[in-house]
Amino acid sequence: MSHIPVLANEILNFFEPRDGSNYVDCTVGEGGHAELILAQNGPSGMLLGIDRDRAILDKAEKNLERFNKRVILIRDTYANLSEIISIYNFKSIYGILFDLGISSYHVEDAGGGFSFSKDEPLDMRFDRESSEETAGDILKKWSEEQLEWLFSTYGEDNYAKVLAQEIVRIREKYPLRTTNDLVEVVRRVKKHSDKKINPATQIFQALRIVVNHELEELEDALPQAVNELIPGGRLAVISYHSLEDRLVKHFLLKKQHEAQIKILTDKPIVPSLIEQKENPRSRSAKLRLAEKLYR
Ligand SMILES: C[S@@+](CC[C@H](N)C(=O)[O-])C[C@H]1O[C@@H](n2cnc3c(N)ncnc32)[C@H](O)[C@@H]1O
Repeated sequence: MSHIPVLANEILNFFEPRDGSNYVDCTVGEGGHAELILAQNGPSGMLLGIDRDRAILDKAEKNLERFNKRVILIRDTYANLSEIISIYNFKSIYGILFDLGISSYHVEDAGGGFSFSKDEPLDMRFDRESSEETAGDILKKWSEEQLEWLFSTYGEDNYAKVLAQEIVRIREKYPLRTTNDLVEVVRRVKKHSDKKINPATQIFQALRIVVNHELEELEDALPQAVNELIPGGRLAVISYHSLEDRLVKHFLLKKQHEAQIKILTDKPIVPSLIEQKENPRSRSAKLRLAEKLYR
């Protein structure tokens, strides 16, 4: 399996999978975390796995084949969590996991324009069967002001204004078709930037968030997750950038204030230095945990 599940031991210790306990993996991806849970909650525990991307779900199906009838895999967005759970009559849910963002598959093989290290069409939709705008559509159609807002709000990029100006100037001459076209523009604008990360990182992040409505979908899904857990059940969310983490943190504080959950991580858990070295993708991960209260 090419995708290494992030903070896997921490997730397993927290979920304590045992025979008969049921889990929902809202971002099943290639099935990394799901496989570890299913290896421990048999012979009767079940896992419902959701992912928006059909191609990655095919991979999960292969990787989890041996668990047979103990796995249900659904292509949908986690924003429809309660509806999915009700349609499949999935009951007594002890743990719900969100491992946000993209999988190694999206970076390496998907051809969806998620990575600045590959020259691919500027798409970035997890669900490429949807009729939603692609990253290319946004770069082509949005006004300079909208692009500046996007790069500064979702990319938290100090060069947002100049980048937006430059994109609007360039697109009058030729369309930005591929990830390389975009990376070239960003590199030119940020040639004096001394940041260690690739100069295009924040712009790719901003486009991916807006193309997939990532923050809105998460905001819709989290309250559903709390509702669906049994009392004493556990919620785990791994996020990879500050906007997501902030949203999760504020959501958990609100639910704790309403006495629906107890937060178990005052500070988020981050991967050990060894894990970060072995799996560089884990470097920005932050895990927040909560337990549903008995009411
Ligand atoms: C970091 S990967 C999950 C990796 C997985 N935990 C593993 O160990 O194999 C995140 C996954 O979430 C999926 N995803 C993103 N937004 C989603 C949404 N709104 N609903 C369902 N899945 C989504 C992506 O397609 C991707 O496969």
